[in-house]
Amino acid sequence: MTASELRDMYLSFFQSKGHAVISGASLIPENDPTVLFTTAGMHPLVPYLLGEPHPSGKRLCNVQKCIRTGDIDAVGDASHLTFFEMLGNWSLGDYFKEEAIAWSFEFLTSPQYLGFRPEQLHVTVFEGDADAPRDDESVAIWRKLGIGDSRIYTLPKEDNWWGPAGKTGPCGPDTEMFIDTQPNAGAGRPGQGGGRFFEIWNDVFMQYEKKDDGRYVPLLQANVDTGMGVERTVTMLQGRTSVYETELFAPLLAAIGDGASVRMDANAEATKAYRVVADHVRSSVFILGDERGVAPGNLGQGYVLRRLIRRAVRYARAIGLKEGFFKPLAEGVIDGYKAVYPELGARRDHILMELAAEEGKFEKTLDRGTAELGKVIENLKAHGQTTLSGRVAFRLYDTCGFPLEFTEEICGEQGLAVDRVAFDKAFDQHRDVSRQGMEQAFKGGLADNSEMTTRLHTATHLLHKALQTVLGEHVKQKGSNITAERLRFDFSHPDKMTPEQVAQVEAMVNQAILDKLPVSMSVMAVEQAKENGAMALFNAKYGEQVKVYAIGGYSLEVCGGPHVLNTAELGRFRIVKEESSSAGVRRIRAVLE
Ligand code: SER
Repeated sequence: MTASELRDMYLSFFQSKGHAVISGASLIPENDPTVLFTTAGMHPLVPYLLGEPHPSGKRLCNVQKCIRTGDIDAVGDASHLTFFEMLGNWSLGDYFKEEAIAWSFEFLTSPQYLGFRPEQLHVTVFEGDADAPRDDESVAIWRKLGIGDSRIYTLPKEDNWWGPAGKTGPCGPDTEMFIDTQPNAGAGRPGQGGGRFFEIWNDVFMQYEKKDDGRYVPLLQANVDTGMGVERTVTMLQGRTSVYETELFAPLLAAIGDGASVRMDANAEATKAYRVVADHVRSSVFILGDERGVAPGNLGQGYVLRRLIRRAVRYARAIGLKEGFFKPLAEGVIDGYKAVYPELGARRDHILMELAAEEGKFEKTLDRGTAELGKVIENLKAHGQTTLSGRVAFRLYDTCGFPLEFTEEICGEQGLAVDRVAFDKAFDQHRDVSRQGMEQAFKGGLADNSEMTTRLHTATHLLHKALQTVLGEHVKQKGSNITAERLRFDFSHPDKMTPEQVAQVEAMVNQAILDKLPVSMSVMAVEQAKENGAMALFNAKYGEQVKVYAIGGYSLEVCGGPHVLNTAELGRFRIVKEESSSAGVRRIRAVLE
């Protein structure tokens, strides 16, 4: 079964169980400051998991593109990827464990669907702790379906609990499904490493909301959130041992082989390098090709993208790929996926241009770092030294962007060692500092539905409209990030705003507040919304029902909500800062006082 057949079969299976198929969301989360990227299908659904009604009903399913870079160091093994597709089905306060698990089992084992043998299936369940009890219900359901006790494992929170990557929000125990790839290997269990058990699906039972103070409070509505990895599942369906042997990667690896001077099977390092290049090219293409368009940079999503591209260059060099190697690889990814993700085809030139530009910048960095390092080495040798200090290696890494591997390689050629221990120490200190920075930057948010974030969310709609009125119709939302303290709004506009324009926009928003405009919501088909002139990203598919928020006669926008009932609730709006976010994109920070 191919990935394309799997996607179709999954969606039609859940349609037959009363689910509406909804579009996948952008990789760049909207209004959710707790994560940089959409890491699972549930992310765009957080407001609905917390109780907002969804316009398509209580049973939903889709295919969601996801980015997760937390395990970037594991990329290169059989199953870890930084970009992957997730199939998901959701119950918003509708069915719960009984149906969710039974449907997972049916889809996995029925000969009409995936047809795995029930004996291949191993499952894990939450063992319970001080926050929540052991999930005996799930254990009982699996038993009833015929999974023997020897194939049901209970594990702690770190294995069998799921919540959003952010610290607060909907969460709960989960049950994970694994395929045993070496049934004759004797004892062993999922989660032990070694690649024997391939995790393919996760059913999360969202019964709790984790609060700011760390408490787990039962949710008013118990939800189901499931996620099945497309790449991993087709790997198992095709009887392969790694995701790279499927049709999703084989052409990409062959293209890498065409340009490389080392064969993929030459040794373990070469295999890893091929896989890392393939994975990172795919992720970079999807991030650059996203509807919300991100470019490499030094902050947030742009920084993650920059790291992926540069890491790809580094591994590409190790297998002898020459400058300009991105083009044929990225074209292969775009062509392979554009039927399912048309945004990639539409942004083809942008993707290729940015990859080439970032590769060029990195080459310059490398040249500069090499020259710098050359001077240091000369100096060391002149003084009869044999070791490059960790401090200098870290400075090269931190301020010149020069990778440690390169420093080690060049020093090695000159018969010098590098103080790796001291480098690691400096690196860890730096990482702690930047982690703290990240957490501060992404604290709180609309995901919590608080009064203040809701107000700022409505103010964001007013701002969007005012910007279009003052600056022109070319203004399009590029990103929105709301915390309890402020809103941040990114939009396309070529120039810095003049102080007059800023004042004009502020005045328009404040006028809309003074006018005490009512906010109302209606549900309609996406075509209708478009016809009515609603602002939106319009990545919804034809015929899909969407929520449209009207603020008096002032603004009309497709949006998941929530919003205040009247603009009179907002207070005074003030723009704190207008600055550049990336090329052609401006960023506004504003507050309500
Ligand atoms: N959110 C869960 C996961 O990512 C299920 O979709 O595993």
